[in-house]
Parts: sequence; structure tokens; C-alpha cells
Amino acid sequence: MANEAGIKATDGMGGEGYYDSHSAIQGNAVEQQAARLRRAVRALNLDRPELTIIDYGCGPGRNSMAAFRAVLDEVRKHNAELPIVAMHNDQISNDWNDLVANIQGPDGYLKNVDGVRVAISAGSFFGAVASDGSIDLGMSFMASHWLDGAVSLHAPGTLFFADITGPAREAIAALADDHWTRFMRHRAREVRSGGWLVVEAMSSIKDPGDRSGLAAGGHRLYRALWQIADGMAQDGLVERAHLDAFVFPVYFRELDEIRAPLEREADLKAAFEIIELENELIENPYVEAWRQHGDDAAYAKAYAGFSRGFSESAFRNGLFNLSAAEKNSADALTEMFYTRLEDLFRAEPDGHIFDNRSMTLVVRRR
Ligand SMILES: C[S@@+](CC[C@H](N)C(=O)[O-])C[C@H]1O[C@@H](n2cnc3c(N)ncnc32)[C@H](O)[C@@H]1O
Repeated sequence: MANEAGIKATDGMGGEGYYDSHSAIQGNAVEQQAARLRRAVRALNLDRPELTIIDYGCGPGRNSMAAFRAVLDEVRKHNAELPIVAMHNDQISNDWNDLVANIQGPDGYLKNVDGVRVAISAGSFFGAVASDGSIDLGMSFMASHWLDGAVSLHAPGTLFFADITGPAREAIAALADDHWTRFMRHRAREVRSGGWLVVEAMSSIKDPGDRSGLAAGGHRLYRALWQIADGMAQDGLVERAHLDAFVFPVYFRELDEIRAPLEREADLKAAFEIIELENELIENPYVEAWRQHGDDAAYAKAYAGFSRGFSESAFRNGLFNLSAAEKNSADALTEMFYTRLEDLFRAEPDGHIFDNRSMTLVVRRR
């Protein structure tokens, strides 16, 4: 769903290197996948004219480099000559200049590997982003938990899916199921028979001790984001009606919700063999550094920067653009929001710690 300016709620992460400099948590999530990616490569048929590897939702790409380096290294161990297409998918609004700079940069994957052609696929992964049967290995990190566009539900008192109650909670679960089914259906078309798909994303597990009934990844951060947005509504800076309707457009699925369409939908059941479905907690480098050095201000700055790196476009498009007035532009509201967030993290450094609960699905295309 696009707004008047044609900008989607999940428009690219902060450009001009901002996302790259504030995505250490995502970086750890990707690093952790290297062994799975190498195993997938070893299972592929490398006796082919060309091999195509795609990263769905690659962002500006710094973290994507680590994934491609592992995959290409493993391919070259087994086949020194095979021509490879390294394809990067994200939305058209992604910072593609940053991505290309990363590919060519010191950590880029072209440095040590010959015979690789870079391809860009700009478009939503809720639609087709590669030709049918063209992908040998698909991967995706910290991306498929984004919903397809803005979510507008009546959800006063929260902006986080897990804290929504009643029929609106059921509505967002149904929406998320529909979007995940669509994501996997397109991958079923794109990944060739014998190809593999490794999808990592934020997730949730049951937690009866939490008021949401879940330990949803990052829930303390989303509650802090709510606290700041609510404070701005109380101060008359954002309109309460807009905030009541604003839901941050992510959904962190439990493993059962990941599995559901793969078992329920006949075409998906026929298409994919589940090799692995895991839930794990990934290290948070900002908290590690804070525990080591005890520098509250540095921690608050880094954590607020991380939060801004992935959330700014959703807040701008879903809230600040709508509430902007002559006195306070969307830019001013955005600055105010993240300044208040940093202040909160500095004042209560152990109150809002981000738990990076991640899931990985590995499937083989039959
Ligand atoms: C948190 S970033 C992760 C980027 C990268 N994979 C990483 O691990 O650092 C999420 C990415 O998903 C992309 N994304 C969200 N919705 C998308 C969609 N419908 N189609 C393609 N990419 C999408 C965003 O633009 C963003 O680049």
C-alpha cells in the first residue's frame, strides 16, 4: 500500500550509509547463517551452465556481503569455473548506490572471486522478483517479517502487533499469514527444483509470563517506541487518531505460523521439503559493549541509531507525515522522536533491552 507520494511504509532503510552504520544486530544475524548457507551450497547441483543466488530484502548490503562471501567461497571450493549470478533484491527505493559501493568495497565479495555477475532486482518480494525456475539458492535476512505495506487497524494503546488485543489481533495474524503465504508462493515459482532457500527473520515464542502471551523479538524496544509516540500525542505533536490507527508493519511469527501455510496449502506442501526450522536468540552487540564499558550515553546513542536505521521510514510514512503541521514538519517530528528515544535509553539503559529473537527456515525445492 503506497501513500500519496508513492512511498511505501517499508521504504528502504536509512540511506547514505546510515543503515549500514547502525545495523550491527542484523549483521550478527547474518554472520550466524554462514554454516547453513555453506551446507545449502554443498547440496546444490553445481554441474550446470550457471548458478543464480539471490538475497531477498538485501538493504544497502553491508550485511549481505558476509552472506555472499560465505556462499561464493563454498561454491568455488567445489567448482572453480562455474559462472555465478549474484542477485540482490529489495524495493525500488532501496539505497542501491550504497549496495554497489559495498559490493565493490574492501568487504565486497568481488575481491576474491572471479566469474561473478552482479544483478539487481528492484521490486517487492511479495511479487515476482526473478524468473520462474531461475534461482538455485535464495536467502533472506531480517526482511520477511515486514508486512506488505502500511497496516491500519484500530489498535489504541500500542503500535506493536504482539500487544494488540481482540479482533484486531486476529486481523493482523490473518494478514501476516496471507503475506507469508504470498512470499513463499513466489519463492516456490522462482527457486528451481533441487534449489534451496534459507530465510531468517525476527520471530516469537510463547511466554505466558508476558502480557502479550509471547516473548516477541524486540518487544521491549517496540514498547519504548510506543512510550515515545504516546508522549508526543500527549504533547499535541502527533494526532491521537493517527497514533490509534498506526501499527508498526512487522509481524514476528512463531514457528507454527511459519510452518502453517507450508503444511496447509497443497501447492506449497508439494513445492517445499522443510530441512530445518529453528528459533534462536542472537547476541546483541550494543548490550555487550554497554555491559563491558558501562557507558550509558554511548549505548543510548548506538541503540537509538539502530532503532532509527530500520524504523524511520515506517514512522515517517505512517505517523509523522500525517501529523506534520506548519509548526512541526515531518523532519522536525522525526528528529524529536529519536532524540526522546535516545534520552529514554540513556535514562533507563537496562529498561528496554532489545532481544533479537530470530528464526531460520531452510527448505529444499522438490
Ligand atoms: C532490516 S532490513 C535488513 C536488510 C538486510 N537483509 C540485512 O540483514 O541487513 C529489511 C530490508 O527488507 C526490505 N524489505 C521490506 N519489505 C520488502 C519488500 N516487500 N520487498 C523487498 N524488500 C523488502 C527493506 O527495504 C529492508 O532493506
